[in-house]
Amino acid sequence: MTVTSPSTGGSPQVDGATHAQRPPDGRPGTAERAAPARALIRVRQLALASLIANTAIVATGGAVRLTGSGLGCPTWPRCTDDSLVATAEMGIHGAIEFGNRLLTIVLSAIAVAGLVAAWRLAGRPRRLVRPALLALAGIAAQGVVGGITVWMTLHPLVVGIHFMLSIGVISVAYEFWRRARDMIVAPPVADRSLRPLRPLAWTLAATSFAVLLVGTLVTGSGPHSGDPDAPRNGLDPQNISQIHADLVFLLLGLSVAAWLILRAWGAPAVAVEAAASLVLVELAQGLIGLVQYFTGLPVLLVGAHLVGACLVWIATLAVLDRGGALDDAVGRKAATSGR
Ligand code: HEM
Repeated sequence: MTVTSPSTGGSPQVDGATHAQRPPDGRPGTAERAAPARALIRVRQLALASLIANTAIVATGGAVRLTGSGLGCPTWPRCTDDSLVATAEMGIHGAIEFGNRLLTIVLSAIAVAGLVAAWRLAGRPRRLVRPALLALAGIAAQGVVGGITVWMTLHPLVVGIHFMLSIGVISVAYEFWRRARDMIVAPPVADRSLRPLRPLAWTLAATSFAVLLVGTLVTGSGPHSGDPDAPRNGLDPQNISQIHADLVFLLLGLSVAAWLILRAWGAPAVAVEAAASLVLVELAQGLIGLVQYFTGLPVLLVGAHLVGACLVWIATLAVLDRGGALDDAVGRKAATSGR
């Protein structure tokens, strides 16, 4: 997949400065430049694969919880004291829980491939190597937190931390992808014009984060603990669900406001589209949330809500990204330091 830049007349841009296709004027031509461009595109693909895989494992982790398989392997890092892997006697719960553990290997392999691809780029750009390394470290940390979750017999606080850490790894994978993208395709505008909207963008992001955080408390108070013997957090499900839903309404209001203001401001189309997408994802996720609440939390809807939560967060990151707020926070400093 080759993305072209409106600002460069469609030519892929490498390192934010050089083009893959140049006029035959003695300087490096298409053939010479194509290799680094391909290498960079490979990095971007691996970063995207990491983003998708880290979202997918939230879904499979949810399947472990929603099938009551949380303690299918009752210990960690071995499955049982006597066996490293799940055995036939442990039944379907053992297979489901152990299968999810194995997925960590797939995630790690994708993260290592991304790191190696970034490392092998000319100049070993730190702005790509760093997020690649951080994503790998996050996955390793998730392996350990997953183990602690089992040791703590699925204590809801640890389960919540496990989920929020995935949100952290997803954020890092997004940033890895964004940086690779911006080294291939120059951002469409240097949108300093959107600076006055930063407080709104960050308030929106903080509210989105709070919705996720409180969502984990709702789950911790509810029936889907992952095992009949797992403790609950003791909060009143109705009250905490109300707080969760109230925050969702605030989030929706801020997102609609961001969309309308960006339109009125004459912001770049990508920024307006990002805000519109966030509103749509929130509406879909809010609907799932309401239906699951009023229908006794059927597992399929709860699973969809879990994936929807990740999508809301990714859409939130896209709003920060397309509005230039992430550049202010991390990207521009790294870019101007040349690494
Ligand atoms: C933007 C919209 C929303 C987002 C991003 C969101 C996010 C979340 C998250 C992250 C969780 C915790 C998942 C887990 O730890 O397994 C959760 C759980 C939950 N949410 Fe939402 N939510 C949204 C809207 C709603 C709405 C409108 C309701 C309606 C009351 C709702 C009801 C619930 C319930 C009942 C749970 C607990 C499910 C369980 O027992 O596993 N959500 N939500």
